[in-house]
Amino acid sequence: MIAKQTIQDVQDRVDIEDIVSDYVTLKRKGSGKYLWACCPFHDEKTPSFSITPDRGIYKCFGCGRSGDSINFVMEHDGLNYVETIRHLAKKYGIEIIEDEQTDEQLAEQNEKDSLYIILNYANEFFKKQLKESEEGKSIGLSYFKERGFDTQIIEKFELGYSLDTWDGLLQEALKNAYNEDLLEKAGLIVKKEDKKYDRFRGRVIFPIHNVTGKVVAFGARTLKKDDKPKYLNSPESEVYHKSKVLYGLFQAKNSIRQQDNCYLVEGYTDVISLHQSDIENVVSSSGTSLTDEQIKLISRFSQNITVLFDGDAAGIKASLRGIDMILEAGMNVRVVVFPEGEDPDSYSKQLGTSAFKSYLEENIIDFISFKASLYAEESAKDPLKKAQSIKEIISSIAKIPDGIKRAVYVKESSKMLDIDEGVLVAELNKNLIKERRKDDKKRIEESTGDRLLEELIVETEIQTIDQAAQIRVQERESIRLLINYGLNDIEDEYKLYNYLLTELEDVEFVTPVYKEIFDLFKAKLAEGEIIDGNYLVANGSEKIKHEAINLLTERREISPNWQDKYQIFIPSEKDLLDTVVYTNVARLKFRVIQKLISENLAKMREEKDTEEQDKLFIIHDRLKKSEVELAKVLGIVVSK
Ligand code: GTP
Ligand code: MN
Repeated sequence: MIAKQTIQDVQDRVDIEDIVSDYVTLKRKGSGKYLWACCPFHDEKTPSFSITPDRGIYKCFGCGRSGDSINFVMEHDGLNYVETIRHLAKKYGIEIIEDEQTDEQLAEQNEKDSLYIILNYANEFFKKQLKESEEGKSIGLSYFKERGFDTQIIEKFELGYSLDTWDGLLQEALKNAYNEDLLEKAGLIVKKEDKKYDRFRGRVIFPIHNVTGKVVAFGARTLKKDDKPKYLNSPESEVYHKSKVLYGLFQAKNSIRQQDNCYLVEGYTDVISLHQSDIENVVSSSGTSLTDEQIKLISRFSQNITVLFDGDAAGIKASLRGIDMILEAGMNVRVVVFPEGEDPDSYSKQLGTSAFKSYLEENIIDFISFKASLYAEESAKDPLKKAQSIKEIISSIAKIPDGIKRAVYVKESSKMLDIDEGVLVAELNKNLIKERRKDDKKRIEESTGDRLLEELIVETEIQTIDQAAQIRVQERESIRLLINYGLNDIEDEYKLYNYLLTELEDVEFVTPVYKEIFDLFKAKLAEGEIIDGNYLVANGSEKIKHEAINLLTERREISPNWQDKYQIFIPSEKDLLDTVVYTNVARLKFRVIQKLISENLAKMREEKDTEEQDKLFIIHDRLKKSEVELAKVLGIVVSK
């Protein structure tokens, strides 16, 4: 908790010109009210990014981003508000006052700070070993050079080396008054029984930075042939949660934003080699599958991820599922596949910078299309696999939150797999329902039966979602007409109530209050009394009274666009009472029929006996015919 005072101090102190000039070169044009620069948030050649120093704000006329100093740092460095305040307080030497921290929180914060300090110390130590010790130079540095890393890149990634001794770091740290417990908590030393020794020995060191650039952990690669593991990583700690860190993000974030794309690779060396090839928007999840937190980290900088796949088929298949998570986050995913046996590291070296860049550009393909082509190939060889392919692809498409994108992908996949779009839509709908009703498993169990039947069910289930609401609306409308205009003539002295009661004779109202009113009306009619809204207000239960008042006074509240929204007829209805009531009856029946169709289909799916199934099919046919007829009356198109 940062104290309000500290936030105020930071806000008072920040200076937009000062802050922005840390990142771009500002120039004054003309009268000089604004200062201009090429926008740090998007790629451009001529400046459209401006700041107004006396108002303390920035605005880019190209990409539209704008805000104050704090927004600028948040956006630019991908920090949250608190991180930004801390960062700026440090920059301006403002003391950070922590508010209402318990002793525990204070201790925790202190411990974190101490861990950062000791990790930074270790990092400096490893860097020094690489550059200055004989062993570091002859073994570590020459290994990096052999891999094609130049001095600049080694500096940029702060690569280091740990000597092949038991406790080089430990001794040196103790000499410098660092605490042994802390070394252990930072994962730098290992304590076993009464022995303690350095975790990393005789390995080259890849420090892992968090998004603000602090070292939080290390990856250490052995240089001996048979040494296991190849990479040894720091254990989790107070400041290092593997699932929340991406290797290379700190070095990549500006470029990710500017290119509006993030390359995702497997290993440390892939990240570094790509930088060496002038591609800086690249991160690695370090050999593990991507987590939600990591995806969120990337999405602070761009909504586009390009996964670079090593050229081995088994690996690709294994990674496909993880990618669905990126889709689920609403991000766009593309992929590039490398030739068999090559990874981004090896291939970038083989091709050289410019050929490698062209390779990426020429081979980039949208993830869904990629997946579709993968399965298209497979099911061309083995047609029996087609059903499985559809499932696989559709399950990915279903993860995309945006409906328009989903529709585009369905079209695309339909072409690639040579499968009717309708079939894919049906499968997709099934998936969507599955997502929406995870708890209602029974209805959506994996299909066993006839595909056609399956499709019918799915299609209808989608409609079922708001069927209940639609029925309720029409029931309400029937009751409203009944209690407002029951005794009005609709034609040839035929009373409205008479028409409604006849037409709805075999319709069972489902909304309790409307059913109650409807039944009451019929009961009173049998006694020779025709009741209306006023009767209900005077004699009904609280619930009925309340409903009746609403129905009697409704006209004045209705806004004209309700007509479209709820399909209730609005203007001068008294004159057009016949149309109004015919429409209402048709709509109510239509909705009820649809509900019956769904229920019948549900039965069909449960039914194992084929003879019984046939009977249900006949019912389905009949219901479907009524549906189509009613639809015609209503001018609605329904599926066959
Ligand atoms: P080089 O062999 O140095 O080229 O490594 P690489 O980056 O190509 O590694 P590889 O493709 O074998 O593995 C990809 C990533 O998985 C590495 O960068 C590591 O982050 C991780 N990794 C690989 N081997 C191990 C291991 O033995 N232990 C752990 N914890 N991680 C590993
Ligand atoms: Mn490699």
